[in-house]
Amino acid sequence: MSESVRPFVVLKFGGTSVATAVRWRTIRDLARQRCEEGLRPVLVCSALAKVSDLLVLLLDAALNGGHKAIVANIEGRHHALAADLGIAVPPEVSDRLGWLSRVAEGVHLLGEVPVRTRAEVLASGELMSTWLGVHALRHWGLAAGRVDARDLLTTIDDPSLPEAVRVLSGSCAVGGGVAPAVVEACAQAGDVVVTQGFIARLSGGEGTALLGRGGSDTSAALLAARLGAVRCEIWTDVPGMFTANPRVFPSARLLRTLDFNEAQELASMGAKVLHPRCIPPLRAAGIELSVHCTPRPELDGTRIHTLVESAPGLKAVSSRSKVTLITMDTLGMWQQPGFLARAFGVFADLGLSIDLVATSETSVTVTLDPGVAALDPSVLDRLLVRLNTFCKATQLGGLVAVSLVGRGIRAILHRLAPVFELFEEQKVHLMSQAANDLNLTVVVDDVHADRLLAQVHGALLAEVDGAAWLGGSWAAVMGAEAAESVAPVDTRVPWWKVRQQDLIEVAQAGSPAYVYDGEQVTLAAQRLKGLATPGAVLYAMKANPHPGLLARIVAEGLGVECVSPAEVAAGRAALDAAGSDAPLLFTPNFAAREEYVAGFEAGAFVTLDNLHPLAEWPEVFAGREVLVRIDPGGGAGHHAHVRTAGARSKFGVSQEQLPELARLCALHNVEVIGLHAHVGSGVRDPHAWERTGHVLASVISEWFESVRIVDLGGGLGVVEKPGQAPLDLDAFDASLAGVQALLPEGCALWLEPGRYLVAEAGVLLARVTQLKSKGPVRYVGVDVGMNSLIRPALYGAWHQIYSLSASSEERELVEVDVVGPICETGDVIGRARRLPSPQEGDVLLIGTAGAYGRAMSSSYNLRSPAREVVLG
Ligand code: LLP
Repeated sequence: MSESVRPFVVLKFGGTSVATAVRWRTIRDLARQRCEEGLRPVLVCSALAKVSDLLVLLLDAALNGGHKAIVANIEGRHHALAADLGIAVPPEVSDRLGWLSRVAEGVHLLGEVPVRTRAEVLASGELMSTWLGVHALRHWGLAAGRVDARDLLTTIDDPSLPEAVRVLSGSCAVGGGVAPAVVEACAQAGDVVVTQGFIARLSGGEGTALLGRGGSDTSAALLAARLGAVRCEIWTDVPGMFTANPRVFPSARLLRTLDFNEAQELASMGAKVLHPRCIPPLRAAGIELSVHCTPRPELDGTRIHTLVESAPGLKAVSSRSKVTLITMDTLGMWQQPGFLARAFGVFADLGLSIDLVATSETSVTVTLDPGVAALDPSVLDRLLVRLNTFCKATQLGGLVAVSLVGRGIRAILHRLAPVFELFEEQKVHLMSQAANDLNLTVVVDDVHADRLLAQVHGALLAEVDGAAWLGGSWAAVMGAEAAESVAPVDTRVPWWKVRQQDLIEVAQAGSPAYVYDGEQVTLAAQRLKGLATPGAVLYAMKANPHPGLLARIVAEGLGVECVSPAEVAAGRAALDAAGSDAPLLFTPNFAAREEYVAGFEAGAFVTLDNLHPLAEWPEVFAGREVLVRIDPGGGAGHHAHVRTAGARSKFGVSQEQLPELARLCALHNVEVIGLHAHVGSGVRDPHAWERTGHVLASVISEWFESVRIVDLGGGLGVVEKPGQAPLDLDAFDASLAGVQALLPEGCALWLEPGRYLVAEAGVLLARVTQLKSKGPVRYVGVDVGMNSLIRPALYGAWHQIYSLSASSEERELVEVDVVGPICETGDVIGRARRLPSPQEGDVLLIGTAGAYGRAMSSSYNLRSPAREVVLG
């Protein structure tokens, strides 16, 4: 075949596929195979895994002068890969790293990041990965050439969009057929062409534009269309598209074939394997798209084509998190012509793309595409201000859209009836059936999403037999690897299921009662002590100050973190009684002068979280060592009330105040020996602490090199509902090791979890006092109220409710609201729960109540809070 007619095939490799030498050897072999098939491969590469995130972080940190550690981290990743590939660090990579350092300095001086600078910086990951890749391929003997993607793709000029959108989330024209200049540039480059995903030339200039998150898939598709390629292959870390997210649901089945419409819908509805924007260019050009697994290149994957025949019906379930709902109360304007045009015009002006829409007589509710909404939080504020000039607009964030996707979904609505019975716990904020009959979406609170998906998938997809479009389950396709890569759903039997008789006896002796299983507390403490990375684990005793539990925790060698003088005294007493020299830490917030004095007197490490005490009461701190609580920005956690970082939280010293802090410390001879941060509570993502670690590492390198303790706070979440995945402690430990590597030699990493140690060890027992039906609702009255357990009222927290007196075999399941005797509408322990028809005198168990249960109780209405019992 002559050179000029060798057809192109585009292969796109994502971040994990280009991050190690092993994967690059696979890329080399694939490129060779395609050449042997008479094709000319064009490899579209992402940045090395994590590098794009680090570049974003670099710009944030540069604003506060904390960028050096992050540049070093990025450099380390590229140098390590070059060494593993057996090549010298390409000079172009070194130049780019030097440039990044200088730009970060510049950002620090300027105090802002111009949009175009941001784009140039964020493009660096792809520019560097492709230099490494092309050098490696040449080193292995391939005639590889690198083409700058900005010479292949240019964004569309749309002056109506804000500059930030055009530069950071640009679009390229779809359609238009084969582009001879693009063909020529790639044909000239070599047998194997290497180029970048995610970046393009900004229309009308020399600058760089980004194609938004997931933009590498889009780049690959656009290039395939412009090259008239025979196929576009997406190489990633999973072998195709599945009927559900296989990392959460191992029973998810491989979708072997899909048509473009279904694939588009699935990608748009949150299946992360493909970016939705990559489909239109391929559909328009009639080019087949396939998805494959770089770690397992021999597997079949998913084929997506116009001609694929696939049966109508449900194909997959998926979810998108971080969905924002905007409700526009129309104040009677709904019927007026032009209302929707006006409202939608505001979204368009701000570059926000609306996703789902539902209307009622008086209101219009829409969701925002999470990708775009995440662009700039201030845009949402502006949106509300502008909408509120002509309607009453409110915003609800942190929701999840659960979608059922498949061609002709309407035809299977009758089969969905049992599924909707499973929605008993959900508040459905919005339901939308797409006009194209390809999806049905419900928007629910994020805590409900996984369980809902599991139920829908289990009921409708896991067991389908004999369909040609359906491959094996993730577990079967991936074999042993599946077991490692799946986040395990919690399958442990709770301790209280085997101690039901003990519990009934406690309840009969007097209810309501908190009952703790001491052994569970010890086991949790041992699990945390077993982590390899932390130098110390301190118990945040605010979660549950019960002396018996505190003693058990301290006996396992944990320290104690305290927030009041009384906690300091209790913590000191517990440590002394155990003869423990584990650390006692006092981390108060807005504490009075005398409280700091008491903290030092008790021999505690003391954390400052404000400059006022140092500036106004220097005599308390002079000559002493302190830790400083830093606000790293970006809180996390199960509810807004427990997110303890970011501009609107009252905690921590902001990064702008660091120069003043350093000045005051020097002035008063105070030594900063530790940095502290706690961003929120109830977090089960094992990587969530990395960001805090990076920020603190930069603060150390910039301001406080004497620091020898870095406390990443607590916040370790537990499973609250059946079906949730527990915090993966091994992954957490590995992620902490990554943070430790950024810290100076000899610096100890501390953690201070509260909930993790005690939550699951505690249950709250209540007695049913009476039943009531009112309208459609059946109430079950219990003798426990919000004065004993305030979490449902305060955070909408979900506690499992279980009948110890009857099972579902003995009595019919009924849906009830479980309520207490306090004179507040919010005195509800659980709404719409399905319980074996409760009767007066039954004992109900309220689960996961060991943390922030009794500790937050009160005598409101002069009702005593539940008593406490510790089982041996
Ligand atoms: N360290 C500091 C500085 C804290 O403020 C907290 C909790 C912790 C550690 C322990 O966080 P944990 O590991 O328990 O998540 N009442 C809420 C939780 C509020 C937590 C307040 N600070 C709830 O019931 O969910």
